[in-house]
Amino acid sequence: MADPKKLFIKTYGCQMNVYDSERMAEAMGAQGYVETTEMAEADMILLNTCHIREKAAEKVYSELGRLRPLKDEKPDLKIGVAGCVAQAEGEEIIRRQPLVDLVVGPQSYHRLPELTAKAAQGVPALDTDFPEEDKFEHLPKRPKPQRGPTAFLTVQEGCDKFCAFCVVPYTRGAEVSRPAERVNSEAQELVARGVREITLLGQNVNAYHGHNKGLAGLIWALAEIEGLERIRFTTSHPNDMDEALIEAHGTCEKLMPYLHLPVQSGSDRILKAMNRKHTRDQYFRLIDRIRDARPDLLLSGDFIVGFPGETDQDFADTMDLVARVGYGQAYSFKYSARPGTPAAEKDPVPEEVAQARLYELQALLSDQQRAAQESMVGREVAVLFEKAGRNPGQVVGKSQYLHAVHADAPEKVLGTIQPVRIEASASNSLSGQWIER
Ligand code: SAH
Ligand code: SF4
Ligand code: F3S
Repeated sequence: MADPKKLFIKTYGCQMNVYDSERMAEAMGAQGYVETTEMAEADMILLNTCHIREKAAEKVYSELGRLRPLKDEKPDLKIGVAGCVAQAEGEEIIRRQPLVDLVVGPQSYHRLPELTAKAAQGVPALDTDFPEEDKFEHLPKRPKPQRGPTAFLTVQEGCDKFCAFCVVPYTRGAEVSRPAERVNSEAQELVARGVREITLLGQNVNAYHGHNKGLAGLIWALAEIEGLERIRFTTSHPNDMDEALIEAHGTCEKLMPYLHLPVQSGSDRILKAMNRKHTRDQYFRLIDRIRDARPDLLLSGDFIVGFPGETDQDFADTMDLVARVGYGQAYSFKYSARPGTPAAEKDPVPEEVAQARLYELQALLSDQQRAAQESMVGREVAVLFEKAGRNPGQVVGKSQYLHAVHADAPEKVLGTIQPVRIEASASNSLSGQWIER
């Protein structure tokens, strides 16, 4: 029998792309491809791309440029572009970089096998439809080997919010939720394969409506699965945090005390221009309600500085919001004009001004992150151990607050939740003593 063909996937962007890459590998697995971590030995290279900021999209073209010598050496090598750049740029990618054999958008990758067959005939293949059929139903069932204790599970895709800066509604299409029963059976399969923690994914996951009681209803249903010990979800929009979901944070033991709730700006003027559809006061009130339900919840956020029209006062309002709320974790970005979005039509803030604001905001956010980590020292946390650490005898996992935690413990703890007394906080992780019970 001939050797199986090898597939190399490089993933950019958000967790939804990480999940999609896994599913694409499975779809190609059914066609006889096995995954490799060595790009040089691949018969097919897929770049699963992100279009959210200009730099993210440009990275794809530089990577494609670097593949030229590989393709010259191995003319049968197939190169594919998947994900959000594929959706946004379509055929333009093949025009700009003719070594690309296939382009597939995030809603049509279940058609990868047909596209690959077409590309094998030497015809460039393109599919960036938003097909009627549910791609997840057309993907091969997940194969059965054991896997690590954490997994992503996409439950909702697309976005109807149309924030003025954002490409997602264009690259991922309208909001669609997967039916709760299908999510449930996929979750059960994951648990049977060793998964203990599932992170439910969606561009706007808390707008999920595949269960008649929304995302909270889905979480409670999944919490019934024996062997599933932890549930997380990301990313949420403040306007979709309903009462049931807030309450679940206080009452559902399996739902972890961590919430990524981006606000983007602390200025009412900018929030309005961004089309975020809420004010800073509404955000403050929401945070109060969430913290009433779950006082130890660790809050995470996203921020954009230098949105068109942002004044010093607007930026000061963002700094003030951050200071008042207190984030345990956060991501902040310089505004990047994206073709086709309403904000791209407006005059930009000067680059140096945006850069200076970004530094200032990041300094505050990293102080808060450090303080949140240091507040763990001396406390006992629950760690789901995921893998062996770099040093012998060391294992690594995540606490309920999503902090990376290192501890000395035998390998048998992998895949289980264990108490750890935190002793020290380093730049991006905690370390502590495993408490053997
Ligand atoms: N659905 C999520 C976010 C998706 S994009 C939400 O609504 O929060 C992830 C983050 O990228 C956003 O929260 C935003 O902070 C940032 N982002 C999106 N578009 C951007 C742009 N044009 N320039 C800079 N940052 C952007
Ligand atoms: Fe983009 Fe806004 Fe939708 Fe988030 S809610 S994906 S930022 S349009
Ligand atoms: Fe990027 Fe697409 Fe995710 S643009 S952030 S990969 S939804």
